[in-house]
Amino acid sequence: MTQLDNYRQQFLALANKNYFNYGGQGTMPKVSMDTISQAQTYIQTTGPFGYEVRDWIESEKKALRIAIASELNVIEDTITITEDVTVGCNIAMWGIDWQPGDHLLLSDCEHPGIIAIAQEISHRFKVEVTTCPLIPTLNSGDPVAVIEQYLRPNTHLLVCSHVLWNTGQILPLDKIAGICSNNGTLLLVDAAQSVGMLPLNLQTSGVDFYAFTGHKWLCGPEGIGGLYVKPESREKLRPTFIGWRSVITEPQKKPIGWQRDGRRYEVATSNYPLYPGFREAIAIHEKWGTAEERYQKICLNAESLWQQLVKIPQVKCLRTAPPESGLVSFQIRGGDSQTSAQLVKFLESEYKVFTRTIADPDCVRACVHYFTLESEMDQLVEGVKEWLD
Ligand SMILES: Cc1ncc(COP(=O)(O)O)c(C=O)c1O
Repeated sequence: MTQLDNYRQQFLALANKNYFNYGGQGTMPKVSMDTISQAQTYIQTTGPFGYEVRDWIESEKKALRIAIASELNVIEDTITITEDVTVGCNIAMWGIDWQPGDHLLLSDCEHPGIIAIAQEISHRFKVEVTTCPLIPTLNSGDPVAVIEQYLRPNTHLLVCSHVLWNTGQILPLDKIAGICSNNGTLLLVDAAQSVGMLPLNLQTSGVDFYAFTGHKWLCGPEGIGGLYVKPESREKLRPTFIGWRSVITEPQKKPIGWQRDGRRYEVATSNYPLYPGFREAIAIHEKWGTAEERYQKICLNAESLWQQLVKIPQVKCLRTAPPESGLVSFQIRGGDSQTSAQLVKFLESEYKVFTRTIADPDCVRACVHYFTLESEMDQLVEGVKEWLD
């Protein structure tokens, strides 16, 4: 058994399949599952409601914020614990002081949940929402120039993803943050596909808000994520959902002000056993290698899969050069969305190969992690060839 096979034994989901859906949901390590269960047992035997458990919860919250902050290269104060990416985006998008006539700019590669938030904000506050076309810049063209062209003097917020969930393109955040700042525009980044995949240094990126989740590339439990808010942008973002975790209280328990750090956007009781479970998932990756080493391996794996796919005449990879992220998206020439769905179903049922379809642009998306096996990629390619035959 190779070292990698050994490593992969830590993940229950990898024992019986070829897994390529890390962008949908990561494979949770056993240690996280065990930790969640042990935490639950601890809470029930010690409390559940009492001084000792309360202290444990407080220390777990702090430990998790520290673990997340180290992944993002920011200070702990800037982190809010949420449930998922979409909650983080909601906090940022609803917390802005919208005025009628303001403009909200989205890229054309945003997730339906985020588009839906923008639509409702437009409806409630008479804000104009427009979309800038980044899909055409995947293989040539400059996404920064496109965004610059679509920014208006009254653009209050730009929402874009760091790694585009459909094509896998990585956007240059520092440059985008620069043009936003020059225009007086706040920048919210959907980090669903970047946290756990890319080495990050948000401290220097200039991004105002960065919303992410633990359950995708970091392989944490579902139901826990986070939001980074740049300290200078905190006063521009009012809490929308509010509870006892958001505020400082006087001894009579009356709220007297917001928490001074990222806790002001946290609300109330949560599923606390997930916190140490998530920390264990983060720790597993850190033990394997640095964020740079993991990203390099992801790119090598993505290139390897891409090289095999481009050799199949009926397959068209969206990227004309090797991918720069772990997302490898491809189409069947002459096919449509039905074709992609049939292929994905065939791969799952006949080859235990788990991929997914994407609607726009219509394609099949295969995600490779740093611990993806060559043999898994071979299975995917063999499955595609068999289906085409
Ligand atoms: C780019 C992007 N944004 C948002 C989401 C939604 O994530 P969550 O369920 O964590 O809110 C996804 C999930 O696939 C995504 O890929």
